Amino acid sequence: MKVKNNVTWVGIEDFFVKNFHGDSYSTPLGTSYNAYLIQEEKTVLIDTVNASFADEFVKQLESTIDLNTIDYIVIQHGEIDHSGGLVALLEKIPDTPIYCTEECMFTLKGHFQQPFNFNLVKTGDTLKIGPGKELFFIEMKMLHWPDSMATYLSGDHILFSNDVFGQHLALENKFINSENLKLALEEAQKFYANVLTPFSKMMKAKLKQLLDYHFTIDVIAPGHGSIWTSHVKEIMQAYDVWSGSYSEDYVVIIYDTMWNGTKVLADNIADGIRAEDADLEVDVMSIRHISENDIMHAIFRSKIMLIGSPTVNNGYLSSVAGLLNTIRGLRFKDKKAATFGCYGWSGESTKQIKEHLLHSGVEIIEQELTSSWVPNDDKIYQAQQFGRLIAKKARA
Ligand code: FEO
Repeated sequence: MKVKNNVTWVGIEDFFVKNFHGDSYSTPLGTSYNAYLIQEEKTVLIDTVNASFADEFVKQLESTIDLNTIDYIVIQHGEIDHSGGLVALLEKIPDTPIYCTEECMFTLKGHFQQPFNFNLVKTGDTLKIGPGKELFFIEMKMLHWPDSMATYLSGDHILFSNDVFGQHLALENKFINSENLKLALEEAQKFYANVLTPFSKMMKAKLKQLLDYHFTIDVIAPGHGSIWTSHVKEIMQAYDVWSGSYSEDYVVIIYDTMWNGTKVLADNIADGIRAEDADLEVDVMSIRHISENDIMHAIFRSKIMLIGSPTVNNGYLSSVAGLLNTIRGLRFKDKKAATFGCYGWSGESTKQIKEHLLHSGVEIIEQELTSSWVPNDDKIYQAQQFGRLIAKKARA
């Protein structure tokens, strides 16, 4: 599939994958492993595909070109979803030079234990591939691995960005247009929230560095999902906003429940928010029914998160523990929260969740809302009033 001039997409669309990284990233819309072929005086392959598609990838590439004409392979990130086709490919064309960062060399050696022909590059290094066509390498350390890198192709003005600007989407139409833009931005934001949030400070600095090069960028070709053949400024500006203290006028209520009491609190808090401020967006999310990634995406968007669990064994439910662990790991910036939950006799859950959130850098904005046993009418009223208070604080 032609991207621009002599650049073609040679990746794989994975329509059926529903969980990625083991079970750690939900991909209800599938994903793609984007690899690109540049055929100038020199022929260059940028990245490969997930290991599970290695043979299909090589076969498909063989049907496109004589593999022996590939002069260079650029590997921008060693994670298996991008480097997983290397071994099968190099069985056909051993010793083909691989251009990558030093950290990526360590990753590839660690993954494959093979004596590849490494050519190490740093930011600012270039590789001439034809008249007016040069690859310019840009290290993208910790965006999101130490080995990550982007590559700018002069002449065609294409930025190959690997994971950055990507989306987990499998699509027949690879190119961004006005019809699929909204979905691409939503999925790019989910990707940012779940993968890049801990590195926002570095992301912001990297965006500035990219702008300081004054490259013309007509196309952003990421490692997953749609290719930004249009709306390039829009996705770059979105990243700039997301890498700051991002939030929307949105409250998310996240809970798990044992005998429905904590669910009743969650639903009545939401009713109170809606009654106070009909224009404030609010979602109620059951940890057991919504993927952790969608919940993290919701937290990323939120002005306030409310987290509820009943008390069990002097603590909170293990499902909530997993969620809190991920919140801590993602190091969200400037987030606010409060907690709620039912209990029978000891009632530690809400305080413990609050402590965990405080240690994760989240500001606690309100006393916990608790209910001894199942919420009665008074408690339901109290939950609705709690919701009204949260709505006011979300607008403050
Ligand atoms: Fe798409 Fe970090 O791998």
